Amino acid sequence: MAIQSPEGTRDLLPDEAKFWTHFKATAAEIFGRYGYLPIETPVFEQTELFVRGIGEATDVVSKEMFTAISGENLKKLLEGGSVKAKSRLSMRPEGTAGTVRAVVQHDLVPQGAAPAKLMYAGPMFRAERPQKGRQRQFNQVGIECLGAEDPSVDAEGIIMLMRFYAAIGIPVRATRLLVNSMGCETCRPAYREAVKAYMDAHADELCDECKRRAEINPLRAFDCKNPGCTAVMESAPKITEHLCDDCREHYLSVKTYLDGAGLSYVEDPTLVRGLDYYTRTVFEVQVTEGMGSQNAIGGGGRYDKLTEEVGGRPTPGFGWALGYERCVLALEAAGHAFPKAQRCDFFVACVDASVRAEAFSLVQACRDAGLVGEMDHQRRSLKSQFKLADKLGASMVAVLGPDELARGEVTVRNMQTHRERAIELPKIKALLAHFGGEPFDGRAPSVDEVFGGLDDAE
Ligand code: HAM
Repeated sequence: MAIQSPEGTRDLLPDEAKFWTHFKATAAEIFGRYGYLPIETPVFEQTELFVRGIGEATDVVSKEMFTAISGENLKKLLEGGSVKAKSRLSMRPEGTAGTVRAVVQHDLVPQGAAPAKLMYAGPMFRAERPQKGRQRQFNQVGIECLGAEDPSVDAEGIIMLMRFYAAIGIPVRATRLLVNSMGCETCRPAYREAVKAYMDAHADELCDECKRRAEINPLRAFDCKNPGCTAVMESAPKITEHLCDDCREHYLSVKTYLDGAGLSYVEDPTLVRGLDYYTRTVFEVQVTEGMGSQNAIGGGGRYDKLTEEVGGRPTPGFGWALGYERCVLALEAAGHAFPKAQRCDFFVACVDASVRAEAFSLVQACRDAGLVGEMDHQRRSLKSQFKLADKLGASMVAVLGPDELARGEVTVRNMQTHRERAIELPKIKALLAHFGGEPFDGRAPSVDEVFGGLDDAE
C-alpha cells in the first residue's frame, strides 16, 4: 500500500488550503483593527519552556508533547550518553509559551511601553488520541496581548474573537461562550486548599487519576470526564465564592464590557482549562450542535505570571487561540462547503500543434494582464480541450487554428452567453497589454473588465 499521512494529521487539499489562506487573511484583517500585529515563532522550542510555561503536571506537557532530538544528540543518547537541557527540544503544543518567550527575549514591552499586541497562525502538535476534531497536528490562530492588566483587554479580545467567528460564517446562535475567573496568587491558594479538602473527604468516590490530581493540581478534577467524578465535583467549592476583592472587581468589569457589547455568555465556575498559566479571566467558546465531544472551537484567558515563569520581568498578559479544523467542522455542521478554489478566466484551445507557440504567448499575455489563463499541456483533442476548459470553469475560450492564425484572428467564445466572435489577434493583444503594464487600480482586473464591450462592439 502507498505510504499514508501520519495518524492524527490531515492534508489540506487545494480547495481547503485556499480557504485556510482566506481564514488567516480574515483574521489578520479583523484583529488588525484592534491593533494586533503578526509574529512568527519557531515550531519547536526548548522543552524547558513548555515545562515551565504550561506546567509540568498538565496533560499537554506530561503526556502529549512530541519531543525531538537532533541527529547528533540522538546518537549520543543511543550510545548511553546524555544531552544538555537546551538540546532537548519539543514541537510547540500551543503558541502562547513561544510568543511570551519571544516578547521577553526581544524586550517587546519595555518598562512603560504600550502593550504588545501579537497574533499568530500555524500548526501546533499534541500527541493526543486522534478522533473527530482532535488531531496530533492542527492549526491554531491566536492572539496575545502583553503589558496591560486592564479588563478592557480581556473584553476586547473576547469580542474580536466572536466577531471573527461570525465573519467566517459560524453563526453566533450556534455557539456558547463560557466565562469564569480563576483568581490570582492571593486568592487561589486558599481556594485550591478548599477543593483539595473537599476531594479528600470524597476520595472513595473519585477515580485514581483524580486522587492523584488532589495532590498535584486539584482544580484539574473539574475537567475529569468520569461520571462519578463529575457528580462529586458538581458540589465542590466554587472559585466565585473565593475571589479576592481585586479579582472580583476585575471579573465584574470584564462582564460589564461584554454586556455593553451585547455578547451573551454563560458563567461557568467549573471552567478551569488545561494549561497551568491562567490567572483571573478564562473563557471557552463551544459549538452547541453537530460537533461531538470536541466542541471547543477556541479558548484562552489571562496569564499575569507567565513572563516571570519564563525568566522575564512581571508583565501581565491575555490571549486566546482558536482551532482552525474545529471551525471547519462547525462550518460544515452549519451547512457550509468550501468554495471551489480553481478559477480560470481565459482558456486558449489549439486546433493543432502548429499553433501552440502562438497560443502559449496569448495565454502568457492574459496572465500578465492579471487574468487566470490556461491552455492544454497534454496535446488533447479540441473536444477534450473544451471539456477541460469547462471543468476549469473557464469564462472565455479562445480557439486558435492554422486558418485563424493565417487570417491573424482568434475565435473567442463567451462560455456563459455562448456567443462567439472572431477578434483580430493584434487587437486582443493590445487590449491585454493595456491591462498588463501598470497595476490596474492596484488589483487584478476581472475578465469582464478586460473583455467587456467586445461582445457588444459588433
Ligand atoms: P487550548 O484550549 O489548549 O488553548 O487550545 C485552543 C483551541 O485549539 C481549542 O479550543 C481547540 O479549538 C484547538 N485544539 C486544541 N487541541 C486540539 C487538537 N488536538 N486538535 C484540534 N484542535 C485542537 C491554547 O492552546 C492556549 N494557548 C490559548 C491561549 C492563548 N491562552 C492564552 N493565550
